[in-house]
Amino acid sequence: MDIGIIGTGRVGSALRQGWSASGHDVQMAGRSTARSIEEVAGWADIIVLAVPFAALETVATRLDGAAHKIVIDCTNPIAMGPDGPGLALGHTTSGAEKLQSLLPKAHIVKTLNQVGAEIMADTAGFAQPPVQLIAGNDENAKQVVAALVSDLGFEPLDAGGLAAARILEPFALVWINQAVVRGMGRDWAFGALRRSSR
Ligand SMILES: NC(=O)c1ccc[n+]([C@@H]2O[C@H](COP(=O)([O-])OP(=O)(O)OC[C@H]3O[C@@H](n4cnc5c(N)ncnc54)[C@H](OP(=O)(O)O)[C@@H]3O)[C@@H](O)[C@H]2O)c1
Repeated sequence: MDIGIIGTGRVGSALRQGWSASGHDVQMAGRSTARSIEEVAGWADIIVLAVPFAALETVATRLDGAAHKIVIDCTNPIAMGPDGPGLALGHTTSGAEKLQSLLPKAHIVKTLNQVGAEIMADTAGFAQPPVQLIAGNDENAKQVVAALVSDLGFEPLDAGGLAAARILEPFALVWINQAVVRGMGRDWAFGALRRSSR
């Protein structure tokens, strides 16, 4: 597929590496790229937002090309508090729902926000595929994104409608808490263990 990634930082670069390796055509756009955000969003089948949450509104104003397209929202509304990283919003809404209100004609899908960028670039070396939960209101869009998430080596799990981003965004903080605050390091991911019998 033609995948346009907005944001050329850690997540954007990791996803380009992962999807390019599985045969997708990936273009990136940012504040200092040859191709503009408008151009890349217009060209892409799938748009991926990999920018700081604080840039969401600014970037959304440049995404007229996202109408009727799938937009994968990898952002996390992280805010630093007195006890470390926390959420800038949540419980009754989410960053993904805010994005949907900014881009009402796009099919917003929340995923690829739950582990570090290094895992998104390369999922090799785990005993089983790491999990990536997916939330969105459009079933077809979620199926397309599930296939893209599988291409990166994750096991996609359907989390329900876009409002489930309210639990997926804080879930990212569980990873950050272990990886960064508690010192486990960045080389781990969530997996779904199923009991075969008991
Ligand atoms: N890092 C992770 O492991 C990780 C994992 C899961 C989710 N996330 C989330 O993914 C998002 C991106 O994280 P990241 O670590 O990739 O950040 P990053 O390395 O700081 O990269 C952010 C990118 O966004 C661009 N950007 C910033 N403001 C912009 C604007 N107004 N217009 C266009 N582009 C803009 C930056 O451009 P410049 O290069 O010009 O500054 C940069 O290329 C964040 O919301 C983060 O919470 C991160």
